[in-house]
Amino acid sequence: MLDEMFWTVHSGLKREGPGDEASARRAFAAIHGLPPRPAVLDVGCGPGGQTLTLAALTDGTITAVDNHQPFLDDLAAAAATQGFADRIRPLNASMAALPFDGETFDLIWSEGAAYLMGFAEAVAAWRPLLKSGGWLAVSEACWLKPLDQIPEDARAYWAEYPAMTTVDGVLGQVEAAGYRIWDHFILPPQAWWTYYGPIEARVASLREAFAGDADRLARLEVHQQEVDGYRRFGALYSYVFVVAQKASPND
Ligand SMILES: C[S@@+](CC[C@H](N)C(=O)[O-])C[C@H]1O[C@@H](n2cnc3c(N)ncnc32)[C@H](O)[C@@H]1O
Repeated sequence: MLDEMFWTVHSGLKREGPGDEASARRAFAAIHGLPPRPAVLDVGCGPGGQTLTLAALTDGTITAVDNHQPFLDDLAAAAATQGFADRIRPLNASMAALPFDGETFDLIWSEGAAYLMGFAEAVAAWRPLLKSGGWLAVSEACWLKPLDQIPEDARAYWAEYPAMTTVDGVLGQVEAAGYRIWDHFILPPQAWWTYYGPIEARVASLREAFAGDADRLARLEVHQQEVDGYRRFGALYSYVFVVAQKASPND
């Protein structure tokens, strides 16, 4: 359960997970044969950093799903400011019960969110929503070394995600769910700092705001410790961005 401090730190940020425009563009470049106005679904869109990039990259409509209304409100405001209000459709829904007919979308995009319903379960559950030959672009946290080479302190840092697997493990889950993989790459440190930079700045300003309030300061430090953990262990893990196509049952 996310506490009040989580939302104090995270409200109003442009991104809610590692990733940046360059990575989204790189993943999008691996996709081919989309129709001129593709129907795109962005699952767990958060405040919509990648949604806005997708709107700039396509002439299609992007349905952006999240279950935290303030993120959707931030996205709607940014979409209006950037001239995308007619093509970005924020929708409050659960990624585990997406309210769409089968074969609705040309592309399903999801950065750093599929794990929330179990990564393998998510990519399997979303597949029927893709049209024949439709595309999946999804990022997932992963270890960069074999599991038996991950030190205990790094494992302890990731204790909240014991199912985290390796790059090959993620690729295997996507293939097993019925997709053909076209490309994958590891998010570079720059994409992490696009996310952690603003969080670190927010923590610094909240330290001043909460001066003298030991309880709040202690709860705030948890967020700094997450960033510090990336500095310490970041060579051992990242996100893999996978671009894959819905395979026909005979593939
Ligand atoms: C790690 S954030 C990633 C956000 C965004 N894709 C990004 O990279 O900036 C995960 C997002 O999933 C949303 N979320 C969590 N559980 C969800 C659910 N069951 N259905 C839909 N969205 C959910 C959260 O509100 C959050 O915005």
